[in-house]
Amino acid sequence: MKSALALAFLGASAGAVKVDFTSDASIKDGASTIAYGLMKYYNGNETGQIPGNLPQPYFWWETGALFTALIDYWVKTGDDSYNSLTSQGLLQQVGGDNNFMPANQTKTEGNDDQGIWALAAIAAAESGFPSPSKDEPQWQDLAVNVFNDLVQRWDTKNCDGGLRWQIFTFNAGYDFKNSASNGVFFDLAARLYLQTKNTTYSDWASKIFSWEQDAGLITDTYQVLEGVSTENCKNIDKTQTSLSASLFLHGSAALYNATTSSQWKTRVDGLLKGVQEAFVSNGIFVEVSCETVKTCSTDSQAFKGFLVRSLGETAQLAPYTGATIQPILLTNAKAAAKACSGSPAKGFAGQAGTACGFSWAGSNSTFDGLTGVGEQMNALSAVVSTLTLNAEGQTNGTSPDKPSGTSPSSPATTTPKGAGNRVAADGMAALVVLGGILYGLL
Ligand SMILES: *[C@@H]1O[C@H](CO)[C@@H](O)[C@H](O)[C@H]1NC(C)=O
Ligand SMILES: *[C@@H]1O[C@H](CO)[C@@H](O)[C@H](O)[C@H]1NC(C)=O
Ligand SMILES: *[C@@H]1O[C@H](CO)[C@@H](O)[C@H](O)[C@H]1NC(C)=O
Ligand SMILES: *[C@@H]1O[C@H](CO)[C@@H](O)[C@H](O)[C@H]1NC(C)=O
Ligand SMILES: *[C@@H]1O[C@H](CO)[C@@H](O)[C@H](O)[C@H]1NC(C)=O
Ligand SMILES: *[C@@H]1O[C@H](CO)[C@@H](O)[C@H](O)[C@H]1NC(C)=O
Repeated sequence: MKSALALAFLGASAGAVKVDFTSDASIKDGASTIAYGLMKYYNGNETGQIPGNLPQPYFWWETGALFTALIDYWVKTGDDSYNSLTSQGLLQQVGGDNNFMPANQTKTEGNDDQGIWALAAIAAAESGFPSPSKDEPQWQDLAVNVFNDLVQRWDTKNCDGGLRWQIFTFNAGYDFKNSASNGVFFDLAARLYLQTKNTTYSDWASKIFSWEQDAGLITDTYQVLEGVSTENCKNIDKTQTSLSASLFLHGSAALYNATTSSQWKTRVDGLLKGVQEAFVSNGIFVEVSCETVKTCSTDSQAFKGFLVRSLGETAQLAPYTGATIQPILLTNAKAAAKACSGSPAKGFAGQAGTACGFSWAGSNSTFDGLTGVGEQMNALSAVVSTLTLNAEGQTNGTSPDKPSGTSPSSPATTTPKGAGNRVAADGMAALVVLGGILYGLL
């Protein structure tokens, strides 16, 4: 008892998330510390708060990303501590039509925002995450409903196809077709095809991918560019985000898995190489458009987690890529864990000395002072990604209860009264003008 206490004290005072990556138990332990710090930012399960919302400065889409990260955490570690609040938050935000267009968000919601939530739902369906009760919408149905919305919004009148960034004409960004929106649509279609073998989905996935190439948004060397203005369909914003590249890589791997076609293999190989060229520097992931110049927005500080998860999924769906991907994931997991050594004066409420920084680069991967939901999520996904290294697609040790077929333990009841969704009230997600082109970070 005494020595346990002493150890705990030592650990706390020494700070940092120290992980022995040869031990699953140590990896899970480190991940649980990061997850704990992450969830201190979330108060949607507290009385008076709205499930599925993060406080400012996080936009609504980011909770969708958070739930994907938490589902991934559960899949890899078997720790179901956050399953109830994940179910509760996802179901709270489905809206009247079960398509992740809740009244509180609709006015400012973009196609990419809606799609990110749908990707959390499909991750739940794929992984056997405990199903909602019979009277609630089911995970896969939610993903299908969003897919069908996006089909309706495919716009052939401008640029021969593609989704616009925004859903509504009155939102800035309606005149922009972006790779994030088309990427979530693509990833969703690809993974629905893998799940159902319904060719409606694979037909759409092929069409979206071809459109991205024809529009010049996926280049010959498989770089995924930000988007194109609908004005003349030539004015391309060449910014690259790891989010968009991740979406196309993951979807392509799903289609390769489902079809074993050489076309999808070529695309997986191309995108994997493209991702390495764009976002891996000295072995470490870098959000290339903004990290080194320290201008990443709150949104883009959450993109690296998508890259990590996409690579992890790719290594499973296209196992021949594992030899390339797994060493990269391991290197980054080590760097990410090292960077979880901050004790910021405010904002972070996790265990002292374990706040995760944003940048993992630099020979020592020290804490860079940037903290938040994105930083914690990125590191969490990176650390747990190494749990698949021991055996193909199998974590060693406790495996999560896969399809249990039972309802989740009932989510903590909350009685939202007022409080208000300040994020929604603030309106648009970040808009940035670069080179005269308006583009969106979601
Ligand atoms: C909300 O979730 C956290 C875990 O992140 C938990 O510690 C807390 O007790 C939960 N609050 C309620 C009211 O259930
Ligand atoms: C295939 O998916 C589409 C789109 O969700 C749906 O409309 C159609 O009914 C499905 N077909 C079958 C045979 O299930
Ligand atoms: C598809 O994914 C499964 C699960 O990871 C894997 O076992 C299988 O080998 C993959 N198929 C192909 C063609 O790579
Ligand atoms: C990295 O850490 C080592 C040992 O603490 C130190 O000697 C070295 O100067 C550090 N390098 C950088 C680039 O900070
Ligand atoms: C899995 O864990 C057990 C017990 O900790 C260990 O004996 C075994 O070698 C591990 N297997 C792999 C593949 O890591
Ligand atoms: C929408 O926002 C209002 C006011 O902030 C809140 O009372 C309500 O619970 C929210 N609705 C949903 C479905 O989250």
